[in-house]
Amino acid sequence: MRPAGSMAKKELVDKGVKRIEWARTHMKVLESIRERLVREQAFEGLKVGMALHTEAKTAVLALTIQEAGAEVRLTSCNPLSTDDSVAVALNEEYGLTTYAKKGQNNAEYYKSLNKVLDMGPDYVIDDGADLIFLLHTKRKEMLPKVKGANEETTTGVMRLRAMAQQGELKFPVMSVNDAYMKYLFDNRYGTGQSTMDGFMAATNLVIAGKNFVVAGYGWCGRGIAMRAKGMGADVTVCEVDPVRAIEAKLDGFAVMPMSRAVRSADIAISATGCKDVVTAEDIRAMKDGCVLANSGHFDNEISKAALLKLAKKHSKVRDSVEEFVLRDGRRVYLLAEGRLVNLAAGQGHPVEIMDMSFAIQALCLEYLDFSAQTLEPDVYDVPDYLDDRVARLKLQTMGVKIDKLSKEQQAYVRNWREGT
Ligand code: NAI
Repeated sequence: MRPAGSMAKKELVDKGVKRIEWARTHMKVLESIRERLVREQAFEGLKVGMALHTEAKTAVLALTIQEAGAEVRLTSCNPLSTDDSVAVALNEEYGLTTYAKKGQNNAEYYKSLNKVLDMGPDYVIDDGADLIFLLHTKRKEMLPKVKGANEETTTGVMRLRAMAQQGELKFPVMSVNDAYMKYLFDNRYGTGQSTMDGFMAATNLVIAGKNFVVAGYGWCGRGIAMRAKGMGADVTVCEVDPVRAIEAKLDGFAVMPMSRAVRSADIAISATGCKDVVTAEDIRAMKDGCVLANSGHFDNEISKAALLKLAKKHSKVRDSVEEFVLRDGRRVYLLAEGRLVNLAAGQGHPVEIMDMSFAIQALCLEYLDFSAQTLEPDVYDVPDYLDDRVARLKLQTMGVKIDKLSKEQQAYVRNWREGT
């Protein structure tokens, strides 16, 4: 008879395989790119180290790169965002070395990043820049071999631009996040839908009729605010950028500082990429039962230190919900330890959204491999023609046709002589 442990592992592997294949079936843009990359063995002989949220959609990207000829090692870019079924399936069924495990502590998380770097990667694909940071600090001996990198998210790009400005960045990095086909859809519609998914899975609470505070009206915050409004919440936006504050106001949201917004908040979600967005002072002003969550990259947007300091006791009351009882008896809830709620408590972005982001990732890796030798260490925008290619493929998969400029129109839009 098969021992119980191996039965459980087999079930986990089966579940992971099904999730990966489900994602693959719905990632039609990446699939069409994969066919060509595999046929051409575009990544033959390359070593690619990846630190991305290890779940089904990421698995499809990693497998695409592997099937196109590369050796791939993968780990997660966040201790809570791994889908263990997918990680185990990648190791057991797909021969793709994966070190990710949900709930890793800090030491385990960095051990996994180090194991990815042990392969001596030619290219790295990062999300949040922890892997690239490690390369430039404790693993400098690996730097000479690395030809370039892709960075997936806003926070990572911010860190890398700061490194480049200070002359610290040692190889070219493609700012995948800043491609239109990434941030316009992933950050906005992806984070919008999946943050609601994470909130609902964690709490099973209603959104309609609630006072819902969104901190940050960037691409992610816009998506969250839009979806919360659509689900019937009364939405307030907190911002530090005056232009974005006006945009939020004209989009129909109340705008005010966090210190005021929290007084009536039932739910407050941060997505700023900044730290200490919800502070001890804010927590002191919260009404009983307020639920706090974060969709920004790092878990420093909501002050967990302040929650612990202000609480007379705290305990886990559901899988992804911690209850903090303040000294006067008011309760404040924190979801997913303040880590990305959409991945730590939900299933991450919808598959068809990640299809676009990861199509850009795959094409950027190919672009980098063609051009890395000619690029100075810096952060580079994704060329427009790659955005255009992915957009056209996406429209095809959606069965949407669009108009085409006639020859006369093409000449007209380039002509400065024709006016009134
Ligand atoms: P963004 O730069 O477009 O927007 C951030 C906004 O937050 C800006 O408008 C900024 O003015 C505002 N802000 C900054 N500090 C603030 C503060 N202290 N209080 C209030 N507002 C503040 O960035 P984007 O693309 O919206 O990303 C936000 C965060 O979400 C980043 O950490 C990014 O890496 C992460 N992200 C998370 C995803 C997820 O799956 N949960 C997906 C994509 C990005």
